[in-house]
Amino acid sequence: MQRQKHTIIFEPVPAQAMAGICGGSKEGMDLINGNQVGRESYFGRFLRISYPSLSPGTGLESINRAAVQVLLASMNRLENTNGKVKVDLWHWIRHEMFLATTEAIYGPHNPFRCAANEDAWYEFEEGIMLLLMKMHKLSPQGRSSFKAREMLVQEFSRYYEQGHHRIPGIPNLCLVQACYNFNVSQGLPLNDIARSELGHVASRVSNTIPGAFWMLWHVISDTTVLADCRTEIEQVVTINVVQQKGTDGQIFEKEVHTIDLSQLTNRRVCPVIMSTWYEVLRYNHVGISARVVTSDTRLDRYLLKKGSTTMVVGSVMHSDVSAWGPSATEFNHLRFLKNDGPSDSQITPDSNRKSIPHAKNHTDNINPEKGPANRLFGGGSSLCPGRHLASQEILSLLALTIMRFDLRPVSGQSWIPPKKVIPLPTALPIPKATYSGHLDIEIVTRHPGREWRVVFGKENLADT
Ligand code: HEM
Repeated sequence: MQRQKHTIIFEPVPAQAMAGICGGSKEGMDLINGNQVGRESYFGRFLRISYPSLSPGTGLESINRAAVQVLLASMNRLENTNGKVKVDLWHWIRHEMFLATTEAIYGPHNPFRCAANEDAWYEFEEGIMLLLMKMHKLSPQGRSSFKAREMLVQEFSRYYEQGHHRIPGIPNLCLVQACYNFNVSQGLPLNDIARSELGHVASRVSNTIPGAFWMLWHVISDTTVLADCRTEIEQVVTINVVQQKGTDGQIFEKEVHTIDLSQLTNRRVCPVIMSTWYEVLRYNHVGISARVVTSDTRLDRYLLKKGSTTMVVGSVMHSDVSAWGPSATEFNHLRFLKNDGPSDSQITPDSNRKSIPHAKNHTDNINPEKGPANRLFGGGSSLCPGRHLASQEILSLLALTIMRFDLRPVSGQSWIPPKKVIPLPTALPIPKATYSGHLDIEIVTRHPGREWRVVFGKENLADT
């Protein structure tokens, strides 16, 4: 199906979303729908201009660095409280990831620095399906979502009008600049540019936030997974002894633990972390890839009629035993380890395991890498361009959290999985507490007094 990208197409899906969810004007929608250059639509070209900022290179690096810096500052503040902090795990992660992602993309005038705008975003999100189906006028949630949307449209119009996207010397603004310049070159009115921005915010945060939640959940709620991840991250931590001057003027020696977050997404360096991340995506995936058939198309023995909609259901693909083996419905954080490491006889369910396991004898690993059953980030012409950014942010949050803190459920000793709900057409569900205080956790500093230095590649990330 992915090979039939000119007859089974994606573009009408975001176009419909732009009209319904974002409230694009008739003029803007006519422009978007009629804007075809050769075989390439407006959305096709729009996505192409965003690739350079999201593919490995200097643009992505600057966005990654800015996002990680926001997370780091927040973790430093948390550690400086020097005691137990109680938070709702979902609300805590949602805020941290939302702010890190939007700060990195929109820079110092990020409209979401204002808490009222962040709240408006969540309000807007709640009613997205009602807006899409044009049923928002019928319910209080729909009306409130509509109001929040209009407020955010004003905020983004102001952001662009005042040129906040083109402040010199801020390299992480490369993505918004490229998107804005493209829209202007196509003649899209400012109000429609601001409306389309809401769609872009959704694609940038609505999977990243639940992705971060489920990643942290699977790691901290299972002692074996936690021990494996910590052991592996310890390998990217270097310890140096430095001399420091005390308040009394005396020189003393202190250990500084330096962690390089850019190594986390390197599968050769952190195979277990990456395997766990992919397994989190596979296990929790609820994404449905919708496509519109533009002319009668034969797929194997099926005839897809012009005008129909096809759907590839991620959860079906990801639980297919012929692709993933008999344990397809189980969570196995080692599933995505490549079968080329030395064999390790120490693969036991020991929570204090100190060596990194390898997957040589994991018979369930039926080529999980390349097959069409792998829809973790979509595939073919709609392969997610944000996968590098999301992975770096999420794995950085994980490392900064589990290396510096212990996290425990407040309501007793065991971690009880939350319900999964799907309020939006996204790839990942959001968690829902099933009783009051269900997701309340205590965050406790693991090594009080330990000095951390966080680097991203060659660059030292100072606190902001
Ligand atoms: C954990 C985080 C993420 C997950 C699981 C995820 C997943 C996906 C999936 C499954 C698709 C394919 C949808 C389809 O086939 O219909 C997709 C497409 C897309 N994603 Fe992501 N995504 C994530 C983060 C991001 C981020 C951070 C961005 C932007 C910065 C982004 C931008 C996009 C865009 C623009 C598309 C449409 C691509 C196209 O049609 O060519 N995503 N994503």
